[in-house]
Amino acid sequence: MNICIIGSGYVGLVSGACFAEVGHHVTCVDNDQRKIDALLAGKVPIYEPGLEELIHQNVSAKRLQFTTSTAEGVSNAEVVFIAVPTPPQPDGSVDLSYIEKVAREIAAVLQPGQYRVIVDKSTVPVKTGEKVADTIRRYNKTGAEFDVVSNPEFLREGCAVSDLMKPDRIVIGGNSERAIALMQKIYEPFLAPVLVTDINSAELIKHAANSFLALKISYINAVAQICEASGANVEKVADGIGMDRRIGRNFLNAGIGYGGSCFPKDIAAFIAISENLGVPFTLLKEVQRINRTQRDRFIAKVREALWVLKDKKIAVWGLTFKPDTDDVRSSVAVELVNDLVAEGADVTVYDPKGTEKALEFKLIEGAKTASSPLEAARDAEALIIATEWKPFAAVDLAALKSIMHTPLLFDGRNLLDPETARSFGFTYTSIGRE
Ligand code: UDX
Repeated sequence: MNICIIGSGYVGLVSGACFAEVGHHVTCVDNDQRKIDALLAGKVPIYEPGLEELIHQNVSAKRLQFTTSTAEGVSNAEVVFIAVPTPPQPDGSVDLSYIEKVAREIAAVLQPGQYRVIVDKSTVPVKTGEKVADTIRRYNKTGAEFDVVSNPEFLREGCAVSDLMKPDRIVIGGNSERAIALMQKIYEPFLAPVLVTDINSAELIKHAANSFLALKISYINAVAQICEASGANVEKVADGIGMDRRIGRNFLNAGIGYGGSCFPKDIAAFIAISENLGVPFTLLKEVQRINRTQRDRFIAKVREALWVLKDKKIAVWGLTFKPDTDDVRSSVAVELVNDLVAEGADVTVYDPKGTEKALEFKLIEGAKTASSPLEAARDAEALIIATEWKPFAAVDLAALKSIMHTPLLFDGRNLLDPETARSFGFTYTSIGRE
């Protein structure tokens, strides 16, 4: 099928590459000329395992192309996906101005006699599909035929390609059989379970799913606080809970909290949506509160050990919001570095992939950067693990201890085995376990 994707960010680009990989002809559109120029020159602007190869292969096979022209993309495609950002506003509600603008751009190029399905893939509040349809109708004066469908994306950063190629489920929300049939045809090659719903339910599924996952993390983090107060071990507790198939072990890893470009924004959005609808979802406010206390409690442990943080040489391993990505947006690790810097600590950070973007976006002003974990830890009075990158677990602990000024190790992601760390002479502190 011929597909157009408007917005070539994480979701748009990975979706485009995967649709092309299963045989569709895809045009990815973006209004950022530099991004499109880079893509046309074979450069992929984000790091995602497997993505670059997938893009190169499908460009060579002439199934994937890039343009800045919405008109060009829409005129060649039966199905047009909207995958533009839906950033948070200061009050937590969603800024839908990019979606509205794209709806008007699509409206301007839809022609009579050319039926199009307009698919909302961006994460949007319930009832946005209705607004997109109204907007297109209002700005298209030709009476062109179209339907709007909601098709939320559940990919995780760091494994976006495999999540898209092998999804747990595909949600298609629509009110038109013709549109739903075309969507099913697009997804046929993925051999995944498909759930067909109305548009509003599909939109709600995305916010409800992400909020539930964040709830799971805050739940185990609250349990970790009780473990710390009682001497229990949160990992054993999580194993014991997770063996119940109704609960499952996934997303029960205690730590310094969730971050990233989805969870904090989507939970705030769901709270705002529920309030607007007159049914405030107050449980989610507690999820946010617990998440915030994890970082504060962790810093308090560092403060307790060092007494005063001002002028203390502290190494931080990790900047990205999770491993296997270069994404540092809304990262708890970045927030932690800034908290330490604000208290006057002398902070040196190392991250395998995230340093460049953190510097580019001026997110860690006041901290020094190092080019290896050991270099960051040289002469440090304390070391903090803020992101659970696998290479950190493989660092030679004897070499680490000998390079540090004081062997104080604070593991915010429960990455190391406490006994092993202590056997090398570290004073080791982690989350919810002794
Ligand atoms: C998430 C959802 O998983 C995905 O379905 C949705 O489409 C977008 O949001 P992502 O933001 O890539 O994906 O990150 P995810 O892997 O879910 O992790 C989110 C955060 O939660 C990270 O900061 C991670 O460190 C934290 N986390 C995750 C925990 O603290 N404990 C856990 O057990 C799991």
